[in-house]
Amino acid sequence: MRPRHGHDFHGACESSIEELARLFTACYEGYPYPAATDALQLARRIREESIALDASFVLHESDQAVGLVLLALRGHEAWCGGFGVRPAFRGLGWGQVLADEMVRRAAGSGAARLRLEVLVGNGPALRTYERAGLHITREVLVLAWRRSATTAPDPILRPLDQISIAEAIARAPGLVSTDACWQRSHASLLSRSNLEAYEISDHGARAWAICVALPIRATRLLRLWGENDLASLALLERLKERLLSIGVVNEPADSPILPLLTKAGFTLSDRQYDMELPLAEVFRGARRAE
Ligand SMILES: CC(C)(COP(=O)(O)OP(=O)(O)OC[C@H]1O[C@@H](n2cnc3c(N)ncnc32)[C@H](O)[C@@H]1OP(=O)(O)O)[C@@H](O)C(=O)NCCC(=O)NCCS
Repeated sequence: MRPRHGHDFHGACESSIEELARLFTACYEGYPYPAATDALQLARRIREESIALDASFVLHESDQAVGLVLLALRGHEAWCGGFGVRPAFRGLGWGQVLADEMVRRAAGSGAARLRLEVLVGNGPALRTYERAGLHITREVLVLAWRRSATTAPDPILRPLDQISIAEAIARAPGLVSTDACWQRSHASLLSRSNLEAYEISDHGARAWAICVALPIRATRLLRLWGENDLASLALLERLKERLLSIGVVNEPADSPILPLLTKAGFTLSDRQYDMELPLAEVFRGARRAE
């Protein structure tokens, strides 16, 4: 069923950060992972993920906010960092209206391609994006390691040096891959708060990791790279000694570190599709229609 009433789009700049955070939270109701946000968390994401408020927008029907899209722009790339319809308006086709406008705005920004990730099990979102022209490029994985109840609670800690993010990237160019998802890309690594970088030297080889520090002795591993696999595994073990849980989000299914994570006791907890739409054709089509 398609929407039957008139609608219009309001730039996200026209809402306060508090209103945007409330709307984002409402639009992600029922999402399988906690997505509720507040003004501070959203402001941080806008900064770290280059979310462009003048390209992002809120869809209105009459006076009611129906849904929102957060669109991030960097160089020649656009990325969707938020997409949702409030529960009362779902199932009516509004998702398609949002997606078509997202593509139009991404193309109008001059970006060469639009990217996003979607959970493999999120049928309505996947269908909506496919109808808007996006296609799946690869699978990216969500993995987790948790200290089991039987693991000794506080093993003896072996040394683990903390260094700056810039030092880690300079010493280990392999930490930064060009095909990383948006939130793990080089630009995101440079701008994110709460990042920690580690280095070890083990049996004559070095390894490095960049992590997001989380509360309650948890971390999210963003990048791992070693001069050989033994050094990478040794670094994972030293992180495990210090932590209760380690998550990895959006690791490409063909990543060379996947076998190491499995060996270190990480298990698969979810899968996402990386999707993209080349925008040059969309842009030319829009120009022809003018
Ligand atoms: C994803 C979302 C925006 C879709 O918006 P919507 O307007 O409610 O979309 P619809 O319910 O009209 O469904 C969109 C399409 O998915 C199809 N669909 C619905 N349920 C489905 C399912 N379980 N599996 C596959 N397709 C499904 C619909 O038939 C429709 O396709 P069609 O137009 O070809 O008939 C909305 O569900 C939402 O806000 N979810 C929570 C936030 C979220 O998941 N955002 C995406 C993050 S990546």
